[in-house]
Amino acid sequence: MIIRGGRPLKGSVVTQGAKNAALPVMASALLLRGGRLTLERVPDLRDIHTMADLLRHLGAEIAFGGGRMTIDVPDELKWETPANLVRGMRASSLVLGPLVARCGRAVLPLPGGCAIGSRPIDFHLKGLARMGAEIDLEQGSVHARTNGLSAARLYLDFPSVGATENMLMAAALTPGESVIENAAREPEISNLARALRSMGASVEGDGAGTIRVAGTRDLRSAAVEIIPDRIEASTYLLAGVMTRGEVTVTDIEPEYLQALVFKLEEAGIPPGVSDDSVSVSCAGRSWNGITLKTLPYPGFPTDLQPQIMAALCMAEGTSVIHESVFDSRYVHVAEFKRMGGKIDIQGNTVVVTGVRKLTGAEVHASDLRAGAALILMGLAAEGDTVVRGLKHVWRGYERLMEKMTSLGADIELMRDDRSED
Ligand code: UD1
Repeated sequence: MIIRGGRPLKGSVVTQGAKNAALPVMASALLLRGGRLTLERVPDLRDIHTMADLLRHLGAEIAFGGGRMTIDVPDELKWETPANLVRGMRASSLVLGPLVARCGRAVLPLPGGCAIGSRPIDFHLKGLARMGAEIDLEQGSVHARTNGLSAARLYLDFPSVGATENMLMAAALTPGESVIENAAREPEISNLARALRSMGASVEGDGAGTIRVAGTRDLRSAAVEIIPDRIEASTYLLAGVMTRGEVTVTDIEPEYLQALVFKLEEAGIPPGVSDDSVSVSCAGRSWNGITLKTLPYPGFPTDLQPQIMAALCMAEGTSVIHESVFDSRYVHVAEFKRMGGKIDIQGNTVVVTGVRKLTGAEVHASDLRAGAALILMGLAAEGDTVVRGLKHVWRGYERLMEKMTSLGADIELMRDDRSED
């Protein structure tokens, strides 16, 4: 992508459905035995298509268009997942819980995904083992089998989003009461809980640290709406900040953006918040350096760390960012420096010294959110920026070219690598 920077973005964008909510809800369809799950507001993204292909491989029939997806699940499912689909996306591990609960078996090559540190799935496996599954690792694949899971009390060492989702789905189809302690509290977990409730499971406590699930073998067809994507919305707001523009994101639940709103207030540029929109107005303004730490929800999201770091590169004064969710999520720093960012990494902490201007350069996106942050850097920089490695960005941002252009960004695709691996 070639970005001709220095133009303030102005206008409003409609928030897409949340990728990270749609993926687990899609996986939960596997719990149905001869039923249909209908999803509304599904974003048209590469990761969504990868999950759809994975579900098709397992036996589901899927129709998708205009934000609506129907997943028809047959009586019999396959339980072996193909390496080519699973390696490309870490969220494919979300089929593990449903498959083990539904088929009593699953084979899953250890998944891939963004290059942001080591991302094991040991919590997922421990939880399933505690529910009675036998787990073996053979030639790089997880083999799980059981004659029937049992309800259990589960505890997560860290409130992992994916592990909470896998446990929740397995427990929904397992008769008896399961309890997940130290569960993740992300809004995406509550979206999944709503889907499971409408299928007939009893789920209580989602959004809090302890989730109780009374499972049933008789889950039924259901429909569910996907929540708005808080990371996409926040990315556009930060694009508005960085270009000293005026950007509104609509169709959002502002509560999901609370951590960002607090941090922008602290930086001296408080956003405007209404019932279903958030806006920033930064024409001619400057903002202060701040301190922040990424944490599980409701803390500041790690998926927004590269984008806020981009904005802090242009703050007045010094900022300190501590990444506490992932190791080595600072691959973008080297690229930021090429554009004039003054950043010092010390372990999982970075110190960012604000500069007056960034300059265009040729940079490479190493993962999804790093890619988004480099686009923000390019929009704010003087001169032209070329961002390579955009295939990561298409995994998470629907119609990004169209949305950015509608805000007045001068961007162009030199080569469309949307279909490349
Ligand atoms: C999800 C999001 C991802 C986001 C992340 C943290 C989806 C599809 N992806 O990823 O965008 O960055 O939450 O908000 O929803 N961990 C273990 N063992 C495990 C599981 C996790 O050690 O079994 C560690 C991870 O390495 C990481 C931390 O726990 O350091 C959080 O990971 P987790 O919440 O599981 O992230 P994901 O569900 O993979």
